Amino acid sequence: MAHQLAQVTGAGLEHRGLLNYAPGFRPFRDTVLFERIGGQATVDRLVDLLYEGIAVDDHLRPLFGRDVTASKPRQKLFFAEWLGGPRRYSERAWTDLKHAHDGKPITHALAGRWLGHFQRALEATVAADSDRRTIFGQVRPLAVALVSQPAPQDVAWCGIGARAVTRATELARRGDVAGLGAALAQAPDLLRPTYAAAVMQAAALAGRAEIVRMLLDRGVGPDGPFYLPVGVTGRAFERVIYVTPLCAARFKRRAAVESLLLAAGASEDVFTAAFLGDLTVLTRMLAADPGLALAADPAVDVLDITPVEHAVAGGQAGTLRIILGHIAHPLPGAVRALRGAAAQGSLAMAELLLAHGADATRIGVGRWVLHPELAPLLASRGAAIGSSGSWIGAACTGNQGRKDDPEYVRALLRYGARATDRRSGDVMKGATGVLALNATALHYAAKAGFLRTIEVLLESGADPAARDSLGRTPLDWLEQAAPSVSRAAVRHLLAPEREQGSASQTAT
Ligand code: HEM
Repeated sequence: MAHQLAQVTGAGLEHRGLLNYAPGFRPFRDTVLFERIGGQATVDRLVDLLYEGIAVDDHLRPLFGRDVTASKPRQKLFFAEWLGGPRRYSERAWTDLKHAHDGKPITHALAGRWLGHFQRALEATVAADSDRRTIFGQVRPLAVALVSQPAPQDVAWCGIGARAVTRATELARRGDVAGLGAALAQAPDLLRPTYAAAVMQAAALAGRAEIVRMLLDRGVGPDGPFYLPVGVTGRAFERVIYVTPLCAARFKRRAAVESLLLAAGASEDVFTAAFLGDLTVLTRMLAADPGLALAADPAVDVLDITPVEHAVAGGQAGTLRIILGHIAHPLPGAVRALRGAAAQGSLAMAELLLAHGADATRIGVGRWVLHPELAPLLASRGAAIGSSGSWIGAACTGNQGRKDDPEYVRALLRYGARATDRRSGDVMKGATGVLALNATALHYAAKAGFLRTIEVLLESGADPAARDSLGRTPLDWLEQAAPSVSRAAVRHLLAPEREQGSASQTAT
């Protein structure tokens, strides 16, 4: 790839760090602490108790969603991984700790309260005093690093909402120098590193050299990484592929922006090389330090996102091959990478990852089931749609602009989904009551008005009289459908006998 070359800074990846956490993000990696304290069962109890404390804490409680327990399963995966257990959180999480907490006004006092609950949970679950002290010794600085808001008496804090950041990135994207200048004058906090990185990326992607110059002039660093939009990375990598402004500029071939950034001292790094498929730089870096092949990106702090994921997200089979060549078998935690390769329909990358030990059994629901070569390959390695009913959410609801897609549903059924599965994990929603509990695909398809999906489900043995845990049938769900749904057509498929005036009603 022909482009100007920045100074290669060796193994140094410090420029990508966003969260200031001195002890290191993986203090218990490769230790036996997780097993010693009792494995997942202990972690589960620890998180349950932490949340019991938070639920009754009037100061902390408002920071959490309406359902305080909603993020508990993810917390359990996180603490298991962080304490040295399986790396399941990194397979699934949508963003790093810095950004997960950025929008929350965490003061020192709130961090202290959170730590108090954590300590009590620790005392009730971890037996050895020395283990408790070791864990707490690492949690405390992490909690302090997440403090985003000084105490009210320290400064007159104006706060900064997500809307201000969105507006600033939009102004940057459009190249509106005067508008962005005014926004920065109104909310100088936009120049804080994480927000500034978002604005800088928008300008770099759009090739707005004058905005980039303005940000550099105001002291914004040339290296602040920010995650690429999901439209670029795909869902498998949503909010975890962080790229520097230099990478963003090169990705879109914005030569003027690239020159500006290089003149300002922008750094080259292994993630940029992996994502862009820059074989020359990558080969040179790996020759100097083969360990970089599995370097965890500091931008996503606790998550394990390595050059492997960056190569896949960039669609770079060539760089992926070189990186994998530097990694001893088996490749740890490559499930997300495999999911990303499958989502791109890249047989070449999926084969490479599988050959290096990626675990297909945990790939989960995805459009891989539709791919004529990938689907049988992955299935031969144990990939299957499990019985949790998560496929129902992905294929049978009208959420997120989804359309009636009978071929997808048919393929999911071919690879392990069953028409009788129920969607577990449905929760109470909304002040008015329950949205859904333990419902079948037919319930969702009826409500969405997906006629062809309903046909596929019925052919595959779905029960039109199935009831959710409140006793409601798919026809009952139809009553909640959007006005655009043809109720008569759905009824015709689900209860033809009722339509004909037959008295033979299915009841149980
Ligand atoms: C400093 C005090 C802290 C406060 C006030 C706080 C608060 C929060 C809140 C409000 C959420 C969002 C949950 C929801 O909306 O349901 C969250 C998520 C999370 N927090 Fe914290 N937190 C703190 C410290 C920590 C620390 C020290 C860690 C790690 C050791 C941590 C790990 C997490 C994780 C893993 C998530 C879930 C992110 C996801 O959804 O994947 N938090 N936290």
